[in-house]
Amino acid sequence: MSCILISGGFGYIGSHTATLLSEKNQKYVIVDNFSNCKREIVDKIRTITKNKVCFYDCDIRDNKNLIKIINENKVTSVIHFAALKSVSESIVNPLEYYEVNVNGTISLLKAMQLTGVKKFLFSSSAAVYGEPDFCPIDESHILKPLNPYAQTKIIIENILKDIYKAEKNWSVACLRYFNPIGAHKSGLIGDDPLSGKNANLMPEIIKVVRGIKDYLEVFGDDYPTPDGTGIRDYIHIMDLAEAHYKALNFIDKKNGINFFNIGTGKGVSVLELKKAFENVSGLNVPIKISKRREGDCAACFANPKKANDILKWSAKYDLNQMCESSWKFVNRNSK
Ligand code: NAD
Ligand code: UD1
Repeated sequence: MSCILISGGFGYIGSHTATLLSEKNQKYVIVDNFSNCKREIVDKIRTITKNKVCFYDCDIRDNKNLIKIINENKVTSVIHFAALKSVSESIVNPLEYYEVNVNGTISLLKAMQLTGVKKFLFSSSAAVYGEPDFCPIDESHILKPLNPYAQTKIIIENILKDIYKAEKNWSVACLRYFNPIGAHKSGLIGDDPLSGKNANLMPEIIKVVRGIKDYLEVFGDDYPTPDGTGIRDYIHIMDLAEAHYKALNFIDKKNGINFFNIGTGKGVSVLELKKAFENVSGLNVPIKISKRREGDCAACFANPKKANDILKWSAKYDLNQMCESSWKFVNRNSK
């Protein structure tokens, strides 16, 4: 039976993907160093999946331990989520980002090479496109990294291209995620990072409804968009998890390297997302308009046709369902 190693499997995207793989009866083993997740996530995944969670408290830079884990569990493919992901932090501390993201990935790839595992699914990001020249963005759009975080994703994509050039029996897919939001239908797991540094839009809206913040700061209402606020492609976390399952099946069948945009193809503004959350929760989310956030673009949304056609994947959940699941997660986890 095949076994998937999930690096960073206790983080936001990894934990949701793990529950889906379990639902599909896919065996997996998680490697995570708990640097951005709570220990209670293990029990939560166990509760959802009604299964023992096989995991190792291990840093991906610990190459020797990775080799042991791969051999012990007869790993056949890898989904690589483990990384640092804060854009602002990467600008302040670029070395840490290159160290964890790039060196960490090299350590994992070397462990794979030594053990003969050659199927690799990589968490890339829409951040690789920077300020887009056009929307919807397709995979041929030029890559214009605006910060060290995005640079690390491009460097890793390039390393993977070079590996495939050298060894044609690798099978790699790089999934360029747009903006995942929402939570598992149980409401048990959601976007729940350890540090308070997560300043993405949905977690910020949640801070307001939890009373941690008085208002949502809207970064600019003077963009050339219909309501003046920034437009993004929000995607339900379980749709994103499903994309991994489909991509795993794809790399199982075919050697090569492929890049896929994983988004809904629909642009939603800051005020539209806020309104949708208010409708679902019945609560008012006060706002304050402030100046544009540095490095933000007006609009960024995907053309997901390649993933639709090749992976046979498309997003199923709408904005209301994304907000409903986030709201359920807030209610089940407010203390
Ligand atoms: P996350 O921080 O919630 O999860 C990452 C997990 O990796 C955490 O559990 C953390 O403890 C673990 N980890 C970090 N460094 C590690 C190390 N050196 N060794 C072992 N484990 C380590 O992040 P996420 O939102 O789940 O993102 C997963 C991946 O997707 C990342 O590569 C991220 O860059 C990428 N991505 C995320 C988004 C997003 O909006 N969340 C968008 C685009 C791309
Ligand atoms: C950000 C990162 C991106 C990364 C992604 C996932 C930047 C510039 N980009 O994307 O590289 O892949 O997170 O981690 O940081 N907004 C507000 N008020 C807030 C928070 C956000 O108005 O308090 C607005 C933003 O200006 C933007 C939209 O909401 O228009 C979405 O922001 P966010 O959730 O941070 O995602 P991105 O900026 O798209």
